[in-house]
Amino acid sequence: MKKNQKSVFEKRLERHHDELRWLYMELYQNDSMFYELCSQMNRFYTERSSALKKRDQEKEKHPDWFKNRDMLGMMLYMDNFAGGIKGVEEKLDYIEDCQVNCVHLMPFLDVTPGKSDGGYAVKDFRKVRPDLGTMEDLSDLTRECHKRGINVCMDFVMNHTSEDHEWALRARQGDGEYMSRYFFYDNPEIPREYEKYVPQVFPTTAPGNFTYLPDTGHFVMTTFYPYQWDLNYRNPRVFNEMMYNFLYFANLGMDIIRIDAVPYIWKELGTPCRNLPKVHTIVRMMRMIGEIVCPSTLLLGEVVMEPEKVVPYFGTVEKPECHMLYNVTTMATIWHSLAVQDTRLLRRQLDTVAALPKEYTFLNYLRCHDDIGWGLDFDFLKGQGMEEVAHKRFLNEFYQGNYPGSESRGELYNDDPVTRDARFCGTTASMCGVESAGFEQNEEKMESAIRLDIMLHAYMLSQSGIPMIYSGDEIGQVNDYSYKEDPMKAADSRYIHRGAFHWELAARRTDASTVEGRIFQGLNRLERVRKEHAVFDADARVSTRETGQPHVMCIVREKDGKRMLGAFNFSLDDAVISPFPGGKAVDMISGKKLEMGELDVPAHDFVWALSE
Ligand code: GLC
Repeated sequence: MKKNQKSVFEKRLERHHDELRWLYMELYQNDSMFYELCSQMNRFYTERSSALKKRDQEKEKHPDWFKNRDMLGMMLYMDNFAGGIKGVEEKLDYIEDCQVNCVHLMPFLDVTPGKSDGGYAVKDFRKVRPDLGTMEDLSDLTRECHKRGINVCMDFVMNHTSEDHEWALRARQGDGEYMSRYFFYDNPEIPREYEKYVPQVFPTTAPGNFTYLPDTGHFVMTTFYPYQWDLNYRNPRVFNEMMYNFLYFANLGMDIIRIDAVPYIWKELGTPCRNLPKVHTIVRMMRMIGEIVCPSTLLLGEVVMEPEKVVPYFGTVEKPECHMLYNVTTMATIWHSLAVQDTRLLRRQLDTVAALPKEYTFLNYLRCHDDIGWGLDFDFLKGQGMEEVAHKRFLNEFYQGNYPGSESRGELYNDDPVTRDARFCGTTASMCGVESAGFEQNEEKMESAIRLDIMLHAYMLSQSGIPMIYSGDEIGQVNDYSYKEDPMKAADSRYIHRGAFHWELAARRTDASTVEGRIFQGLNRLERVRKEHAVFDADARVSTRETGQPHVMCIVREKDGKRMLGAFNFSLDDAVISPFPGGKAVDMISGKKLEMGELDVPAHDFVWALSE
């Protein structure tokens, strides 16, 4: 390189330097720490492999690569799926068979057994849980995934560390430097003040937001479990070190970094300690740091909040923050719509999302590794006579199968005795009735359950953004109650839907007479159709259509002069709708001709129709 010619790194740094420095200094007023950050960024850039640098360049040329309609994600715990990292690598053919090109590897870093919160209490950010493999295995896996066109996503748990993390151990020994990386108080006064304003995440399994440490006589902030110590981002050392961990993973080949529990990372006394403005400062800085060192690595924010609190995490078009966010309210609203057989709220939800800038990319899903929280728009539901506490109770009863018309199975999560609030756990198939139909060996019920399961997936695939399947859902895996026999898991009902993957069941996917085959092939067909038609592109025009029947939801997607209609029947009764009187269309799955003036949408079924 010629002497005066700027390196790629310098050019990228130059682009963001002023803003990055401004935000950093506003937060920390610490020049030398900023200087350290920049030189470490340079080091990570220098150490980045040439293959990943090439990937950066390609993706910089097509910055919208993740908005393609061919994106399909799957989330999995590697031990459940295939025993460990090497096992996953051996099973990549299966992942490809599922047409998945984005795999979210659930937490795999070292934890203390029994105090891991499903891997979300990290003991060492530079060490893989020994039973899963090594960092080298991980780097091999990402390389192999990239070769096959599969993107890799991982969790970055930056709000807290395990109480067994080196920093926490030193803090516990009274080392002030490390105590200042957490929130330590030597008397209950300030914790008590905080508790006045801060709600609880795990009101039953881990009440309160502080934990008393009898050995040191201190209280430490623990928003989640008592062994998950909140990091103090007022300390620039915490921010810098966590950014180095982020860059370390980017250099391992991670394409998507899921920022765990992002709304919680900044705390201020007298506030609920969620979604504070400084959280956005931190995420914005992280976005710029990524764009400078590893632009092919994207940020996915985990913001499990109501829509008006979710959207700000995209930042602005000029100053973006996360590349992607979860469409969490839609997920909960889908299950609500099914229980009440009424799609008015779902429609409102879709119209709201459709009105957002097309740059915003959502991850759509039916369920994940966590519980389903009933974060619905209760102001709207009030108008339909549904009151929050009573309605949540109804939904929880409904999905436990304690209600006429419900074939769902699952369990409550964090049933709060004070607020009477609870969330819900179960696999998609169990919530659709596959488990109960299998138990009763009732073929007719099984038929209905499978139809419903596929209809809900079709709805998920009809939305703009990245559809994300939870491993096992593609073959209709049901709840796993064995967690109750494991003392390390028994208290946390989320394990009911995090069971081991059953390869013997997956082997039946090619046999269309089995439950697994019907679901797998049904979903596979939908995914193929989605990839074929430009109407599924993220920049398609999306609207809803009134059918006069609130239990049938109609989505219209238009692009390049083509129009598709997706009609979804959320009720137990067959329906006939007339979305476009006189219009003709073809069924995108069967290829049959359809009359749009008289369209049959059977109970819990759907139609994807492309206008002629
Ligand atoms: C996120 C994870 C959840 C975990 C929590 C605390 O919400 O999805 O599983 O319990 O963060 O890390």
